[in-house]
Amino acid sequence: MHTRSLGTTGPQVSALGLGCMGMSALYGEADRSESIATVHAALEAGVTLLDTGDFYAMGHNEMLIGEALRTAPAARREQALLSVKFGALRDPDGGWSGYDGRPAAVKNFAAYSLQRLGVDHIDVYRISRVDPEVPIEETVGAIAELVEKGYVRHIGLSEVGADTIRRAAATAPISDLQIEYSLLSRGIEERILPTTRELGIAVTAYGVLSRGLISGHFSADRTLSPTDFRAHSPRFQGENLRHNLALVEALRKVADGKGVSVAQIAIAWVLSRGEDIVPLVGARTRERLAEALGALEVTLDEADLAAIEEAVPPGAAAGERYPAAQMAHLDSER
Ligand SMILES: NC(=O)c1ccc[n+]([C@@H]2O[C@H](COP(=O)([O-])OP(=O)(O)OC[C@H]3O[C@@H](n4cnc5c(N)ncnc54)[C@H](OP(=O)(O)O)[C@@H]3O)[C@@H](O)[C@H]2O)c1
Repeated sequence: MHTRSLGTTGPQVSALGLGCMGMSALYGEADRSESIATVHAALEAGVTLLDTGDFYAMGHNEMLIGEALRTAPAARREQALLSVKFGALRDPDGGWSGYDGRPAAVKNFAAYSLQRLGVDHIDVYRISRVDPEVPIEETVGAIAELVEKGYVRHIGLSEVGADTIRRAAATAPISDLQIEYSLLSRGIEERILPTTRELGIAVTAYGVLSRGLISGHFSADRTLSPTDFRAHSPRFQGENLRHNLALVEALRKVADGKGVSVAQIAIAWVLSRGEDIVPLVGARTRERLAEALGALEVTLDEADLAAIEEAVPPGAAAGERYPAAQMAHLDSER
């Protein structure tokens, strides 16, 4: 397994991380035993970074990972590095009601996560969205206290912009920024990526397949349940979807020419953007995981990169990456 460093202060991790969100929430029904088998297969293949959030189906995703770790061989369990997001407030109906980044809340979230995961420390801990009522210094400062006590090893950020990155990094060492980055979402290139690079912070990129849209497996006739994120995502609606799937077909021609799949070329493109970028892939079956891991063997030369950019030029996506109400929570979009 190729490895990359999570910034100048973070750990060495597998060049691809496994994002576990879809095993519990947001992309429709998932198969529990296949999810656990996928985590085991990832660890077996040398994946070390597992990403979750305490709010993914209200603790379900952490308990799933906890079970997968308990039932994995000891050596595999020990290699796992857990990246956990917190802060999103839920209700029993599954609704979302804001974010809580107060120091007491940070410690409370962490205490519950450690129990659900069945571990004595979290490797990277981060608030999923900035709490507008709490300065980032206070939230990061509370995680730094957890680092001092040994409950957390490293501090990460999620979906924040350049100014917040600087304020957080002035408070405590930051290992990585988790943020959406793909051929369809290149917004970080202008200000955010130069800032993380200046400060020695890595990027853990999510949505590298644009939530399945540029995986080559998505089609316009797919029926999505109302709880599926994509049922409300602007990029998956009507004319936007038709436009975006036409981009996928252009990308498919490049992939076919190289004898790889669309998902592999999309992941390989993100990998090619720099050694400081670690894609998190949302595979929830062993088959999809194997396909994603295949991207590590894809080499893109200048001609390939030019062909990819011609198929999917910067800014080509139709539709924002989140519905308007969720865009408003993104510090990274200010
Ligand atoms: N910090 C944040 O704000 C934030 C936000 C969202 C996600 N995340 C994290 O990032 C992780 C990755 O995000 P994501 O799940 O949205 O990303 P993604 O990898 O772009 O999308 C996953 C979707 O792609 C589909 N897919 C098709 N082929 C695939 C393949 N070969 N490998 C993997 N997936 C394939 C999956 O489909 P199937 O339907 O076939 O399973 C799944 O629905 C999440 O699991 C979560 O841990 C963080």
